[in-house]
Amino acid sequence: MLAPVVAILSLWVLSTAGDSNLDPIKNYCKRLYHQSAVKSGKLYIDGGLEIFTPKNDYGTAEGGEILGYNEWLITLDMQYSWDWETSNFSMNALNITADPTTGTKPANLISGALYAGAPDDSKIYLYGGTTSFLNESFPGFEWPDSAQYALWSFDTDDQTWSQYDVSLNVPYKPAGGAYAEAADQGLAFYLNGWLDNGTSNAFENEYNFLKYLDGMVAVNTNTQQARNLSTSSLNNSPRVKGALAYIPGVSSKGILVAMGGVTKPTSDSSLDNEGTYVSFDSVDIFDIASMDGAWYNQPVSGDIPGPRTDFCVVTVSAPDNSSHNIYLYGGQGANNLYDDVYVLSLPSFRWIKMYQGESPRYGHTCHLVGNKQMLTVGGDASEDLMSGCDWEEYGVAILDMSSMVWGHIYHALDGEYQVPTKIYNVIGGDGQGNAHQMKPTGGFSNDQIAQFFNETASTGSGKSTTPSSSTSSKISGGAIAGAVVGSVIAAGLIAALILYLIRRQRKQQKNTNPPSSPPTTTETAEAPPDYKPARLDGAFFRNRGQAVELTSQQVSALTELGISNPAMLHEMDGRPRGPAELPDTRPADVFTTKSGKN
Ligand SMILES: *[C@@H]1O[C@H](CO)[C@@H](O)[C@H](O)[C@H]1NC(C)=O
Ligand SMILES: *[C@@H]1O[C@H](CO)[C@@H](O)[C@H](O)[C@H]1NC(C)=O
Ligand SMILES: *[C@@H]1O[C@H](CO)[C@@H](O)[C@H](O)[C@H]1NC(C)=O
Ligand SMILES: *[C@@H]1O[C@H](CO)[C@@H](O)[C@H](O)[C@H]1NC(C)=O
Ligand SMILES: *[C@@H]1O[C@H](CO)[C@@H](O)[C@H](O)[C@H]1NC(C)=O
Ligand SMILES: *[C@@H]1O[C@H](CO)[C@@H](O)[C@H](O)[C@H]1NC(C)=O
Ligand SMILES: *[C@@H]1O[C@H](CO)[C@@H](O)[C@H](O)[C@H]1NC(C)=O
Repeated sequence: MLAPVVAILSLWVLSTAGDSNLDPIKNYCKRLYHQSAVKSGKLYIDGGLEIFTPKNDYGTAEGGEILGYNEWLITLDMQYSWDWETSNFSMNALNITADPTTGTKPANLISGALYAGAPDDSKIYLYGGTTSFLNESFPGFEWPDSAQYALWSFDTDDQTWSQYDVSLNVPYKPAGGAYAEAADQGLAFYLNGWLDNGTSNAFENEYNFLKYLDGMVAVNTNTQQARNLSTSSLNNSPRVKGALAYIPGVSSKGILVAMGGVTKPTSDSSLDNEGTYVSFDSVDIFDIASMDGAWYNQPVSGDIPGPRTDFCVVTVSAPDNSSHNIYLYGGQGANNLYDDVYVLSLPSFRWIKMYQGESPRYGHTCHLVGNKQMLTVGGDASEDLMSGCDWEEYGVAILDMSSMVWGHIYHALDGEYQVPTKIYNVIGGDGQGNAHQMKPTGGFSNDQIAQFFNETASTGSGKSTTPSSSTSSKISGGAIAGAVVGSVIAAGLIAALILYLIRRQRKQQKNTNPPSSPPTTTETAEAPPDYKPARLDGAFFRNRGQAVELTSQQVSALTELGISNPAMLHEMDGRPRGPAELPDTRPADVFTTKSGKN
């Protein structure tokens, strides 16, 4: 076995720029609602709220915590193994620089998305997001930009930012939507989301403005074009603060699975969870091959997670692709925060509870790193932003998704993902896969979903058999191999792990309330209307516009929102209203590429 190759790098910071003296790494207390992506062996963290601990010249904390913003692009090297507890890693903060052709810097945003882009593309992409007004006196605070340039890229090779005008097809810049990307196809998705006074300078004087948006924005990261797909067939839409997972290898180009979050707010002041929770007792599926806007609802069974927002998901497939396992971690419920991990396994569509801890986390992001590790980034353990710092000193942690062990060490060379016993006890098979249950317990809800999995929709388990409990005692050699990866230093790791577990235990929150069950919505499985098939190629995405002024679409969009008459806006936003008062759908021509115009 190869000894792990490890860069012996202590923590160092390239730049401590910005107007404040607070360093995003040295003064880190906690972060949340940031954007992050992993690209070519590096983690990138953009924006987000950051709470800082001021320190004196000796590095000792001095004075109270300061609520502010992360004004840097933070990077963490993932090419080498690291251990955050010993600061044995390379975490840097890069200055955010202006687009050299326009002189404009990307805005400092929360609740947007950072996409890795296609493997052969050196750029990462920032889409959506909103300006937080939580501390307007923080030196890094900047007023919102125009929504015209909702898409930005950062070239990881030459370190330049570029902005793109996608406003002709997608007039608004949404925040709080669920996002996922089919990086292998250069496609990124942003589902629903909201508009508030931080999403555009046109709204910045609108106190308490909040509107949830229909539509799913699809970005072709290779051409930097975007379009807005109808979500009229998606139940409980528009929704925010939920999650979207990309599952490759299902249907011809993969599917997206949407879950959780909340729907329309009940009052106009609710960036809090005042809407209706989207129950995890069903999920919604989008077929990337058709790109026709059709969503299919599939009821799911098993250990249904409590309703929540602000959780993260990571997908990993069995070695033989017989199951695709979506790991859900943490989040925020109506009266409680979660420290748990659930897996939604496809195609059995069964939820399996994997882990329960006592150190909750919400507003974090997570990524698949190596073959089987979940990297978690940021998040908060309390609804009170000023109530203490993250016990994970740099805000990163690792979950081995095969052994379900949390740790502070990232293994750049990890073993193959093995399906955990807890999962194959339910769906059958072993660490390699060989899942028995190839259909939902109640059958596929319609032919379309069944076809994505090359199955039929007839109810019942069909060829699948519910595994007997006798499989539970079977532990595959592979699972053992997975568990002892890194055995060269196993003794040290075990000692470190014990310390870590003790520490994790110590960091228990006082919140001992059992998860409550706020009201949930009942989703009805509905055959989607007839959709026109569409193409995926470049012609499908509008070219970058040239206008610097508001486009006519933007102007009409603003008019539609009543921005010319703010009083009307306030009135309309707080209650359900009919289309006669405020049309929720944009005219069809907004989505259509007008060929020849550029
Ligand atoms: C970062 O930007 C600041 C100005 O905001 C500048 O003073 C500083 O030199 C820059 N640092 C680097 C490493 O470019
Ligand atoms: C907002 O920022 C200012 C300037 O850094 C700081 O003094 C103040 O404590 C911050 N407010 C909060 C609530 O942290
Ligand atoms: C850094 O962490 C890795 C993984 O635990 C370890 O192999 C390596 O020896 C560590 N390096 C230092 C300098 O502690
Ligand atoms: C996308 O289209 C929907 C109508 O389907 C519209 O309500 C929404 O504002 C659009 N989204 C964006 C981000 O412009
Ligand atoms: C934007 O709205 C929020 C409430 O949603 C409010 O706290 C904030 O002050 C508003 N910002 C401005 C500039 O009015
Ligand atoms: C599993 O699916 C992935 C993605 O579609 C594919 O690259 C891989 O070859 C598949 N593995 C097997 C064993 O079929
Ligand atoms: C279904 O069949 C098609 C065509 O044979 C194949 O490309 C696809 O990978 C199969 N999908 C699954 C989930 O087995």
